[in-house]
Amino acid sequence: MLKKQYLMIPGPTSVPERIVRAMSREMINHRGSEFVNILNEVSLGVKKCMKTDNDLYIIPSSGTGGMEAAVVNILSPGDPVLVINIGAFGSRFVKILKAYGADVDELKFERGVRAVPEDLDKKLGEKNYIAVFLQHNETSTGVLNDVKKLSEIIHAHGSLVVVDAVSGLLTADLRTDEWGLDVVVAASQKAFMLPPGLSFVSFSYKAWECYEKAKMPKFYWDFKFMKKFAEKGQNPFTPPVSLYYGLLESLKMIQEEGLENVFERHRKLKDMTRTGLKNMNLKLLACDEAASNAVTAVFPPDGMDADMLRKNIKEKFGVMLAGGQEELKGKIFRIGHLGYCCEADVVVTLNSIKECLR
Ligand SMILES: Cc1ncc(COP(=O)(O)O)c(C=O)c1O
Repeated sequence: MLKKQYLMIPGPTSVPERIVRAMSREMINHRGSEFVNILNEVSLGVKKCMKTDNDLYIIPSSGTGGMEAAVVNILSPGDPVLVINIGAFGSRFVKILKAYGADVDELKFERGVRAVPEDLDKKLGEKNYIAVFLQHNETSTGVLNDVKKLSEIIHAHGSLVVVDAVSGLLTADLRTDEWGLDVVVAASQKAFMLPPGLSFVSFSYKAWECYEKAKMPKFYWDFKFMKKFAEKGQNPFTPPVSLYYGLLESLKMIQEEGLENVFERHRKLKDMTRTGLKNMNLKLLACDEAASNAVTAVFPPDGMDADMLRKNIKEKFGVMLAGGQEELKGKIFRIGHLGYCCEADVVVTLNSIKECLR
């Protein structure tokens, strides 16, 4: 029997046919004029999505590569930094920073809540941190941070603001320049509707000042090297050209829909998902005020194993959901409603959950 797949995980998301077709074009010279035009156009397009005029580097990696690039281009071993940890991706920043020898403090919050501005203000009053790292959208818990407010507080204490917007960008507004975000990281396989393989990192003037003092080892991720080549419309190393074709098409689709409408679509999908789950009497991890537009984390009914439920939903209906991470493993499941996702996808997902629970 035909088994249609519904990829309802929070990335990679399904890829529209337009993008698949665009990526199947023949290869071109990555040092030739055609690639120069492509790189310039996609860089401008991603900057619009981030609402920034800062430098932007498109690098061949998943989101974690972008996070690592952010770290090594602004810091030296021993530098004091703070990570606002509201979930597994906050923990990832901690691991990267420790691997490169930064002096890391954590401001950890209970899973399912967003960072509390007053707690951040208090923590920043205790020590001078060079940079503060945080998530725009925490994918492991389905929580959206108030980046504007948090950034205001971080600025008042004079630290650099580094934001992981890997799953958040395009699902909710993020005003890089207006909110003073020094480094913002995003990735292709989330709301950009592309396969994994590209990450996007914006880098402010203040971040460049830190770069000049930064002594963490780097080669492939060295932004100065990337800047030198970007001025010629090139990457220092061979780029994944097919993904750039896809990115051009993705940006066209985003432009056709309108950036603000893209946010609004995600907000509606969030509301629809949460209402449907609540109607099934399921308990949601995040409260309405902090809920992510990209992913919803939900508990199964008491006594039911979340991973067993997911397995049944996948086998019976072909709907793929994500599991819990870290301490939430086996306790929750997550529904991704970002990227190439519409109301019909949410209807199918909610009904398959309902049927399996029945
Ligand atoms: C918020 C967030 N940050 C970082 C990452 C890491 O990205 P990747 O798995 O693409 O390396 C992810 C991936 O799900 C994410 O959701």
